[in-house]
Amino acid sequence: KLPIIIDTDPGIDDVVAITAALFSEQLDVQLITTVGGNVGIENTTRNALNLVHFLGKDTPVARGANEPLMTQLVTAAEVHGESGVGTYQFPEQADESLLVKEHAVLALRNKILQSSEPVTLVPIGPLTNIGLLLKMYPETKENIKEIVLMGGAVEGGNATSVAEFNIFVDPHAAKIVFDSNINIVMCGLDITRITTITDENIKIVEEYGKVGKMVSEMLSTYGDSSSTTKLSSIHDLCTIFYLTRPELFTVVKRAKVDVVTEGPAFGCTVAEYREDGNVQVCLDADVEAFRLEFITTFKKIFDELEVLQYV
Ligand code: BDR
Ligand code: CA
Repeated sequence: KLPIIIDTDPGIDDVVAITAALFSEQLDVQLITTVGGNVGIENTTRNALNLVHFLGKDTPVARGANEPLMTQLVTAAEVHGESGVGTYQFPEQADESLLVKEHAVLALRNKILQSSEPVTLVPIGPLTNIGLLLKMYPETKENIKEIVLMGGAVEGGNATSVAEFNIFVDPHAAKIVFDSNINIVMCGLDITRITTITDENIKIVEEYGKVGKMVSEMLSTYGDSSSTTKLSSIHDLCTIFYLTRPELFTVVKRAKVDVVTEGPAFGCTVAEYREDGNVQVCLDADVEAFRLEFITTFKKIFDELEVLQYV
């Protein structure tokens, strides 16, 4: 299994991505670190703990940075609700037994340095923790296999007309990450606008037990689905499917990516396509296959939990 660490700000699409990762046969989620983003750190951490508990897993969770490096936190409560998970209520509040004592940045350092195999980082929120990690503990770079992140856009934004939310929240941290020379896979808006899920797909998943119900309930209040086309971008899920089903991503181009940290293009990612770039930018995917993978993923989780009930 591929060892990964998810850095996240749950967040409705974060919840979908984490769930898929925790049940994947190919991935070993060693740690979940939280960051302020969609909502503040208290809520993103509580949501992560509640989710792991709800899924019956024991993945440790470490609380990370609330504030971006240089700016004030901007949240996206209009997309994810005040709590971060819409109007959904987890049946039980998790206790803090899965919460590790160390700050996320230290927990990341320890996990990465202790791992016998290079670790893949999967950041699906603002890059504050990862930026801090690379500055504070540069020795960890040696044992990072690659960074598969959701963030940025070669064309167009969602936080502003040119900036994607995760990068817009903390462009200074993003700049540290993109400039690090580590191999990066960028699942930005270019790909997440293409890999949409339909209302019909969500209705199918709704029938898949308690996990399916959770996902469909959260997605019913998710602010990133258009009311006219009934298509939702489950942005963060792209990173997990990139790791488990890379063949779904049909066009991926190598680039050098620069992050704008000043002026009207604040938070914009600029990509120059070139063979010696450290970033692989995802640009196209097989949408029908992606949708089928979404459904199959939750069907498998349903089957697995059903079997568990009878043993
Ligand atoms: C990204 O911003 C957040 O609102 C989502 O969780 C996703 O990580 C999309 O721009
Ligand atoms: Ca996110």
